[in-house]
Amino acid sequence: MKIGLLTISDRGSRGEYEDRSGPLMAQLIGEHSSWHIARRAVIPDEYEGIFETLIDWSDEGLDLILTSGGTGFAPRDITPEATRQVIDREAPGIAEGLRAESLKITRHAMLSRGVAGMRGRTLIINLPGSPKAVRENLEVLLPILPHALELLAATPGSESHHRSI
Ligand code: MTE
Repeated sequence: MKIGLLTISDRGSRGEYEDRSGPLMAQLIGEHSSWHIARRAVIPDEYEGIFETLIDWSDEGLDLILTSGGTGFAPRDITPEATRQVIDREAPGIAEGLRAESLKITRHAMLSRGVAGMRGRTLIINLPGSPKAVRENLEVLLPILPHALELLAATPGSESHHRSI
């Protein structure tokens, strides 16, 4: 499995503060799997840059892209909008599940507008920006990812036993 980790933060991209969420995502994925981190970047909260990076990385054949940041209510938080334009199928259960579990920890989970979905064979999931939120969300997400990615990579036709006809 090839993974892309995209931190979306104005201050992080300017080097005004150290990106801790990107390395934390890499660490937690490394502890949980043998997946290869093929791409990593820190970019500002700019619609075009997010849109283009997600398209480039999907078209390169990454299996999973995790974004961190830009999901909140601040005027420059536009990660969900850019993601929605890139995906061709939504995976609302992932976003709902992450928020539902996060709500058990903090009511501020209501303030994340993150979305999830697929662009072709690439699963894209928005996580909030703080390292605390990244850790809490990945604890929920990591156990379901192997099955999700396995289904997404399935050859068309090989899943016929899942169909009712
Ligand atoms: N989810 C979890 N699990 N833990 C958190 O601490 N923080 C919330 C929310 N989701 C949080 C969380 C807060 S305070 C905000 S503002 C939103 O995520 C959006 O964060 P972002 O703008 O950094 O993406």
